[in-house]
Amino acid sequence: MNIIITGASRGIGRELVKRYSKKADKIYAVARDGNKLESLAGEFKNVKPVVLDLSDLKSVRKFGKEIKNIDMVICNAAISLPHSPSFTPFEDFKKTMDINFLSVHALLEGIVPDMQKRKRGKIVLISSLASLVGAPSSMPYSASKRALNSYAQSLRNLLAPNIKVINILPGFIKTDMTQKNDFYMPFLMELDEGVDRIQKAIEKNYKEYAFPKRLYYLIKFFNMLPVSLQDKLLQKVAK
Ligand SMILES: NC(=O)c1ccc[n+]([C@@H]2O[C@H](COP(=O)([O-])OP(=O)(O)OC[C@H]3O[C@@H](n4cnc5c(N)ncnc54)[C@H](OP(=O)(O)O)[C@@H]3O)[C@@H](O)[C@H]2O)c1
Repeated sequence: MNIIITGASRGIGRELVKRYSKKADKIYAVARDGNKLESLAGEFKNVKPVVLDLSDLKSVRKFGKEIKNIDMVICNAAISLPHSPSFTPFEDFKKTMDINFLSVHALLEGIVPDMQKRKRGKIVLISSLASLVGAPSSMPYSASKRALNSYAQSLRNLLAPNIKVINILPGFIKTDMTQKNDFYMPFLMELDEGVDRIQKAIEKNYKEYAFPKRLYYLIKFFNMLPVSLQDKLLQKVAK
């Protein structure tokens, strides 16, 4: 089995590389930090570092078109700008959309036709529970992840039944991404536990998997409230 994992240098992606290194023939570990990728490759001989900036969409498309015989792609890399009440500058918005959303299609553009020819493959998208609420203080992150949810639904039904598409919506997990948050993160989870759940969803081919359930159902309940009440609550949180 040949796997691509993006965002492989740290956090969830790095842990996924470690776990899949026991099962895979080859793992293409994608990120910008070459030193961190080299240290992974030193530990696991089947890990091949791919130093690539996912905001460079031209290079991402080139990589996706050149690589062949991929059985699974885990599109995990993302950025989250520090939460801020100020209106996001265009450049920051574009960067977030490029890395978190457009780079996924740029990568898959070359890989999906190859999977279609081979009539098999698995595509895993790492979205977020943040995709289910338009948080005022992290507009680009919520928007990029909501776009990913729509993309996942389209892709899953376009590529069924031969190619499996799995969309995962985690809550808060302890990584560099959450370390910089200075607000209360309900049900914050250890990295190991979060990756256990992600791995289970991948192995069991869940179409969509949101966790932890307590936070997921709270958000579902929130989304059933009248919009005016949702807005009141969101404006309180934003201040
Ligand atoms: N942690 C959470 O609570 C949480 C919750 C919900 C969803 N998620 C999602 O889970 C995924 C992993 O998050 P994480 O918490 O593990 O984040 P993280 O610790 O911040 O790691 C992010 C990874 O993405 C890579 N990356 C960032 N910008 C990149 C770029 N321009 N080009 C290539 N790679 C880039 C980073 O590598 P380099 O810096 O070396 O490039 C790093 O390996 C993300 O999609 C995130 O949105 C996380």
